[in-house]
Amino acid sequence: MAEIVLGVSGGIAAYKACELLRRLREAGHGVQVVATPNALEFIGAATFEALSGREVLSGVFEHVPEVTHVALGRRADLVVCAPATADLLARMAAGRADDLLTSTLLTARCPVLAVPAMHTEMWDHPATVDNVATLRRRGTVVLEPASGRLTGADSGPGRLPEPVEIAEFARLLLEAPGALPRDLEGRHVVVSAGGTAEPLDPVRILGNRSSGRQGYALARVAAQRGARVTLVSGTTAALEPPAAVDVVGVRTTEDMRSAVLDAGKDADVVVMAAAVADFRAAAVADFKIKKTDSDPDAIRLTRNPDILREVVAEQVPGRLVVGFAAETGDADHDVLSFGRAKLERKGCDFLVVNAVGGRTGHNAFEGADNEGWLLGADGSSVQLPMGSKAALAARVWDAVAERLA
Ligand code: CTP
Repeated sequence: MAEIVLGVSGGIAAYKACELLRRLREAGHGVQVVATPNALEFIGAATFEALSGREVLSGVFEHVPEVTHVALGRRADLVVCAPATADLLARMAAGRADDLLTSTLLTARCPVLAVPAMHTEMWDHPATVDNVATLRRRGTVVLEPASGRLTGADSGPGRLPEPVEIAEFARLLLEAPGALPRDLEGRHVVVSAGGTAEPLDPVRILGNRSSGRQGYALARVAAQRGARVTLVSGTTAALEPPAAVDVVGVRTTEDMRSAVLDAGKDADVVVMAAAVADFRAAAVADFKIKKTDSDPDAIRLTRNPDILREVVAEQVPGRLVVGFAAETGDADHDVLSFGRAKLERKGCDFLVVNAVGGRTGHNAFEGADNEGWLLGADGSSVQLPMGSKAALAARVWDAVAERLA
């Protein structure tokens, strides 16, 4: 497992670094907390020490014989700065080395993930905007902050993304250090995720087990590659809304259809990662169906619209359309031949094919990991190796960004 330096700077969001630390430790990583003196005004060293099992380091004059200001950066596989305050970003951009954390950052040659948290005015200030641009140009991954409630009554962009999301990005950079280039800047992408729920009566629905994890990963990775993202989210497991993403919540296929077609009007890319119900009740009962006076065979179903096909049929010039397919294959066909046939039938530019059940026994729906193939309408086929759903998302965006360029 990896050796991670968790840099904590002095902002109120430092309390969320404790939860992030716990998650990184649970994933099996060794984590060295390097806190700025101001961070330790917010959170006591004892909390970090108990969670990391290591002494918290802060000053350059501690452990001098071990030359920690150089050794920590050299040893690290990843440095995560969370929260990264406006001041820390400024010191990083200037190449300062005035405390242990900035000294570590100057010696580190591994991926660096900076997770900003500050008031909106500070985030929007031209000085911070320039600092972030400088850091990104040098290869530091500076996440877009989340929007929402900040300290006090104000709200806007500047919130630290949730620890579970930061931990996902940390895993992604360990798996694929180049997974978050800013190559979708200026693009609008629409991603559908999760399942749809079709009502049978006022209390019952026809639904499916899609967790929405793959669609959420696509949305969060696109947002951090610079895109404006609309996530049309159907029914999902309990997932945190991704930072810097507009989420439109829907339930039925009809609602998903209008949300996708509407948001898709000015989109550069539409990705249908949702598990859309193929059928709905022909008529929704006004009252709860009673077992005493109804015959189960009497529930009649009717076909739902095929959203992906409708998006393709709009033929918007320059807009790319990506579909998903979960296939098991059968006695005469393998998963890929079904995938290729589906790509042609649907007419999309790319199709992500996941093998489910069958030989691999893998269930793409519920886990944190996924694998498959990315098929292109030009006949191309790229294997997507088993890894996190974020890593698979990054491979899909690689192909899309290349095509858009
Ligand atoms: N899809 C859609 N609208 C539907 C059904 C599916 O937009 N009513 C999209 C899914 O989001 C996915 C792709 O179509 O991107 C393939 O979904 P899948 O269920 O595999 O396709 P089907 O056409 O239903 O094929 P099958 O006969 O294998 O179920």
